[in-house]
Amino acid sequence: MKLAVVGGASTYTPELVDGLARLREVLPVTEIALLDPDRARLEPVAGVSRRILDKAGHPAEVSTPSTVEDAADGASAVLFQLRVGGQSARHVDETLPLECGCVGQETVGAGGLAMALRTVPVVLELARRVAAVAPSAWLVDFTNPVGIVTRALLDAGHKAIGLCNVAIGFQRRFAGMLGIAAERLALDHVGLNHLTWERAAYVAGEDVLPVLLERHGEDIAAQVGLPVELLRRLGAVPSYYLRYYYEHDAAVKEQMSAESRASQVAAIEDELLALYADPSVDTKPEALTRRGGAFYSDAAVDLLASLLGHVPSVQVVNIRNDGALPFLPDDAVVEVPASITASGAQSWPVRPVPPLYSGLISHVAAYEALAGKAARLGGVDLVADALLAHPLVGQASLAEELAAKLVTANRPFLRWA
Ligand code: G6P
Ligand code: MN
Repeated sequence: MKLAVVGGASTYTPELVDGLARLREVLPVTEIALLDPDRARLEPVAGVSRRILDKAGHPAEVSTPSTVEDAADGASAVLFQLRVGGQSARHVDETLPLECGCVGQETVGAGGLAMALRTVPVVLELARRVAAVAPSAWLVDFTNPVGIVTRALLDAGHKAIGLCNVAIGFQRRFAGMLGIAAERLALDHVGLNHLTWERAAYVAGEDVLPVLLERHGEDIAAQVGLPVELLRRLGAVPSYYLRYYYEHDAAVKEQMSAESRASQVAAIEDELLALYADPSVDTKPEALTRRGGAFYSDAAVDLLASLLGHVPSVQVVNIRNDGALPFLPDDAVVEVPASITASGAQSWPVRPVPPLYSGLISHVAAYEALAGKAARLGGVDLVADALLAHPLVGQASLAEELAAKLVTANRPFLRWA
């Protein structure tokens, strides 16, 4: 079985390879094709990936083809984990909105829209070329903003599924607090990518979230950056991305005087790449834990095992709504638990979502539809429309000012600008 990774020179790749090395019985991978325009980065990343596999006695070959056709040819799945513009474009996404008093985040608000504008056309073009040589391959999207990118892929007719590590992170941490195996804990996770709440955590059919909030509330609240009183009152755990909504002004104030996450990540990446280039390094380095992608490899290999390796499972994924959240259009992409088999993902029945959450979900889903449209069609007016529809922007003058700024700052990446 061959897997291809688009954006293969990502510093996360060794994490993925480490996961594949662990699951070799289920996923008999023979080739991992890493595709990336940055050959200088690709070399050390491919090198450490080979050493990780060698150490595990895994027979897979790591190839570094130079065209997407060669990478995808014969692949059973193609993973998208690219970042258009790298950390320097991300730095702009995280700082430019602050000039207008809006939160600066790579996937939320104006920054997330800028990322979508740069990314959607590139992913669509690559996916089209993938599908031309590997029409039956699964496209697994980790590329942010995952909800918007996955929807664009599905709208274009691709066999795509979107993945994020937020849910698996909660599952692993909650299970750790209870001292049980993670597989025993199932989340009632609902919303859109990076806009989700854990409403229950089932162990043997019983909801243990109230117990977790009672015993470990402070810990959980600190992890998501929100007050424990709020979590206990809601009886739910919002993801840490909800902090940008529930505490928007405090987050902006903090960001004004903090180093951007992009700058921090750039420094971590320098460190990681130096380690990857060291021929004595044959495990994923500790420094990788300072990235946000904890459990990313577990989520990825579990998903691939179900899609390709005949190991059915229930996992949180990004898929078409198709009625799962009745207050959203069917063609929206939602992030919910789904049963995953070789024929794809089928969402589990979702408990009714109260207005406390459904209002915000609807609002952001409408923004996501407009963001996808702006990314595909281009034009500053569509960008301003998406911002006008975003709950964290919403004011006309602000939307217009931010739209002009985003387009100017991202011009090198926008074919239409
Ligand atoms: C989490 C999110 C990812 C995001 C990452 C950022 O894992 O789910 O979607 O890409 O954080 O991590 P970083 O180390 O780049 O800040
Ligand atoms: Mn994510």
